[in-house]
Amino acid sequence: MQTEIQTITDDSVALAKAVLESGGVVAIPTETVYGLGANAFDDKAVQMVFAVKGRPNDNPLIAHVHADYDLRAIVAYEPEYAKKLRRAFCPGPLTLVYPSNGAVSRHVSCGLSTVAVRMPSHAGAQKLLRAVDFPVVAPSANVSRHVSPTSAKHVYDDFAGKIPLILDGGECEGGIESTVCDVTGDVPVVLRAGLITREQIAEICGSCLLRDELQKGEKAKSPGMLYKHYSPRCQTKLFLDGEEEKAKAYAKESAQKRVWFLCENDVADGLEKDGYSVLRLGATDKEMAKTLYQKLREAEGIADLLIAIEPKEKTGVMVGVLNRLRKACNSQDVIH
Ligand code: TXA
Ligand code: MG
Repeated sequence: MQTEIQTITDDSVALAKAVLESGGVVAIPTETVYGLGANAFDDKAVQMVFAVKGRPNDNPLIAHVHADYDLRAIVAYEPEYAKKLRRAFCPGPLTLVYPSNGAVSRHVSCGLSTVAVRMPSHAGAQKLLRAVDFPVVAPSANVSRHVSPTSAKHVYDDFAGKIPLILDGGECEGGIESTVCDVTGDVPVVLRAGLITREQIAEICGSCLLRDELQKGEKAKSPGMLYKHYSPRCQTKLFLDGEEEKAKAYAKESAQKRVWFLCENDVADGLEKDGYSVLRLGATDKEMAKTLYQKLREAEGIADLLIAIEPKEKTGVMVGVLNRLRKACNSQDVIH
């Protein structure tokens, strides 16, 4: 199969619509990361997304809808506080997990009684979602466990020959996936941290819980929590902030390898002065979110060993950035 990359125009959107309507899979841009889209009402199309990605069949998908989509078509009930969240943050990088009314394919939620819904703010995504006017499931458009894609090229690198079309909407502004927030209970619960922070949600709803990482000694609720995620195809090693000396010693032990560091700009300045090769994450939380996956993919081409150092800031948007960085380096032992 030939994989075309097309910028977003009336023609390419019409082509994407035709592919989705005929049960096919199309990669689409969003403001967070690129997604692998399929019609959420179509059993076979949804199953194809799992197959193309190599995704474990116990990890549910998000249904993406346009800003004026009537959620009652797929959602059984929306609590008042969820309406407030939607008004405050949608369209945008927030996914809300509702009780499902059973309308989407049963494969979307892997047997759960809920459905995750997101309204992406990316203009190209909105244009396509309006054109089709049905919910589109879209997991991140990476081969399962690989680094999530923030450009059309990243998608091409993972799926050339496997999907017919990639809609190119430029580089993703957000850079990490949406915040996933369960709104089926009395209070919102963040299941995956992202660009909309727990604090922002609590400000609207009065409170907000966070359940996105395993606590020390806790057993995984879903097997997905144990998988390696977001991982570059090179060896990785993660150090805590303040452990630069330890990290440098580790680099010296690995001198026969092509070693690169990944860290925030402050720390990069010092390492570069000492002659080390460094991939810079940036200086602010938003910048680090935007660059993280880009740099992890860049590392694959140039490094045998990527030594990452955790950024100092651990709150707000950085909760999501750190969660991805730790999983990418598969270092559950550093959760603290
Ligand atoms: O930003 C994003 O959300 C991107 C872009 C493409 O929109 N999509 C994305 O999809 O990250 P994916 O499939 O890579 O991640 C979906 C996350 C998973 O952690 C999954 O477990 C969770 O959402 N999820 C989906 N449906 C759920 C449900 N019914 N209950 C709980 N978690 C759910
Ligand atoms: Mg993903």
